[in-house]
Amino acid sequence: MAKIVITGGEVLNGEVQISGAKNAVLPILCATLLADRPISIGNVPHLHDVTTTMELLGALGAQLTVDEKLTITVDAGAQLQTVAPYELVKTMRASILVLGPLLAKHGHAEVSLPGGCAIGSRPVDQHIRGLQALGADVVVENGFVKARADRLRGGRYAFDMVTVTGTENVLMAAALARGTTVLENCAEEPEVVDLANCLISMGAKIEGAGASTLTVEGVGRLHPTTHRVVGDRIVGATWGIAAAMTRGDVTVHGVAPAHLQLVLNKLRDTGAVVETFDEGFRVRADARPKAVNVSTLPFPGFPTDLQPMAIGLAAVADGMSLITENVFEARFRFVEEMVRLGADARTDGHHAVIRGVEQLSSAPVWCSDIRAGAGLVLGGLVADGVTDVHDVEHIDRGYPRFEEILRSLGGEIERVSG
Ligand code: UD1
Repeated sequence: MAKIVITGGEVLNGEVQISGAKNAVLPILCATLLADRPISIGNVPHLHDVTTTMELLGALGAQLTVDEKLTITVDAGAQLQTVAPYELVKTMRASILVLGPLLAKHGHAEVSLPGGCAIGSRPVDQHIRGLQALGADVVVENGFVKARADRLRGGRYAFDMVTVTGTENVLMAAALARGTTVLENCAEEPEVVDLANCLISMGAKIEGAGASTLTVEGVGRLHPTTHRVVGDRIVGATWGIAAAMTRGDVTVHGVAPAHLQLVLNKLRDTGAVVETFDEGFRVRADARPKAVNVSTLPFPGFPTDLQPMAIGLAAVADGMSLITENVFEARFRFVEEMVRLGADARTDGHHAVIRGVEQLSSAPVWCSDIRAGAGLVLGGLVADGVTDVHDVEHIDRGYPRFEEILRSLGGEIERVSG
């Protein structure tokens, strides 16, 4: 495993262009399995998880091509394999997103249950129950979710809790079901809306994208299209928070500020000046951030994927912050690594209380997942001395050109291969 070595104390200044969202491109790649003819996807981020998904689609029998701009074209017109084995899905939980499309298109799907996860248990019961509401026979057997249905039929399902990939899986399946499907308590994340927009441009009949009730009129087949993936709000906000922490001035292009309203308001509350424009925003700070409380919730709430960065910000803020994690129960595990960096933090269940310190102190730390890794690097930026962040392959799953961008903003950072 590689490590990133950061020399703290630099102020981040400059401009960043953000590419498409990981959490939108992965379901959209899986949605291509629903069509008979090629689908082209642009604004694709250069990420390990994209490569992993492409390998999975290729192993199922889809034909993929990639051009020099990283536009991916997927032709899933042939009869595909409908079994996704553990070796292909173990490194990425989003692989479960092939379940709905394979079932809807080919009448059968077996997807291995992915293994454990550093941020907490991530069951797929809602994916299963949603597909059952569309008439599928689904069992969990020998470590696989096994689903079968000659042709799905429209149905009604209210999710027990808001689930992003659960909503996406059932939405994709409903697109080809016979009749009308009504899904309630759906995720409203911009990435779900982006998937719905892509499906609509493939000919799906979906109403309500971005609201909690989705109505889908199933169609017989979906046709070719070209889709540009929505910008990655989590990556964009990471650089905005880094600007506030280092008292810098960073302009982010390629992310709709409407997708980050609550986060940008929190940054304003820390004392930073935040300007927004059509497809971007600028964060400027010239003083120590003031402490703010943060509570993670499904969209439009504060994203759980930015909770580690909120902890980093709180660690050097003036005052005491209460951070509440409402989505993933084990997502505070990484706080121990923040404490190694000198954060004055205590967790109790899903609450973390952080008393900000003037400066963190460098220490070797270990990434456990994508976002924890990014949070630790932000910590390293405001620590004295040299911080080694180990196991940075996690960061590569979600952040394209991570060190290159950080360096272009003035960060002193290098990667050392393990
Ligand atoms: C997606 C994102 C991830 C983000 C998360 C929450 C992708 C590829 N990943 O993950 O980056 O952190 O949304 O915004 O888009 N749950 C169940 N049963 C289910 C499904 C979910 O109990 O069948 C629970 C989970 O344990 C969790 C909560 O619902 O507590 C939300 O999880 P969910 O929205 O499903 O997360 P993912 O879609 O896996």
